[in-house]
Amino acid sequence: MSGRVAVLASGVGSNAEALARACEDGRIDGSLCVVASNRRDAGVLTRAAARGLATLAVDHRAYPDRATFDAALHEALLPFEPDLVVLAGFMRILTPTFITPWRGRLVNIHPSLLPLYPGLDTHARALAAGDREAGATVHFVIEALDAGPAILQATVPIEAGDSPATLAARVLVEEHRIYPLAVQACLSGRVRLAGDRAELDGALLPPSGAEEAMLLG
Ligand code: GRF
Repeated sequence: MSGRVAVLASGVGSNAEALARACEDGRIDGSLCVVASNRRDAGVLTRAAARGLATLAVDHRAYPDRATFDAALHEALLPFEPDLVVLAGFMRILTPTFITPWRGRLVNIHPSLLPLYPGLDTHARALAAGDREAGATVHFVIEALDAGPAILQATVPIEAGDSPATLAARVLVEEHRIYPLAVQACLSGRVRLAGDRAELDGALLPPSGAEEAMLLG
């Protein structure tokens, strides 16, 4: 059965675009049922509309607090009937009002090797720490920020002379590669959230998520 994916994004939307391409070329057995943003002027909405995708803007500034915004966002997504809600550079912290109803069907990509560097400025922090590698993590979203169980990680080397921007660009290439793999694994039902742990084919995954080869098979 072909899956319906809602993408939430606040910025440029290169991950949303990578997911759209993966739907088109069959790496994801599904389609983007809507691309939604908390910013009406987000580039991601323009790019999605140019692809003929449904778009939705729910402006967080129109709501008095996070929970009220989250309730409105949840309601706005329901008519699109998503099987999976995918955060791709969505720059709002979600509360249980949104997370609870989508629990197990809500994933995020974070530009670090979680549990390292939750939050912002991940690349600068990895460089400041003198790390030798960096990466990205696709994970289920739970109530604690950037703390949900990992589905899949990708690692890149940190090279001499890297700036946060050069490192971000290297990591982003990997994000575009692994997000479709992880989304397909969720849609197919192979990857699930079981309590607070992720499992693949019924077996609990380690903290670093699945071996990529397992998701390709
Ligand atoms: C990505 O690095 C993602 O990991 C982070 O925000 C960035 C979004 O980039 N959460 P884009 O809008 O998908 O190009």
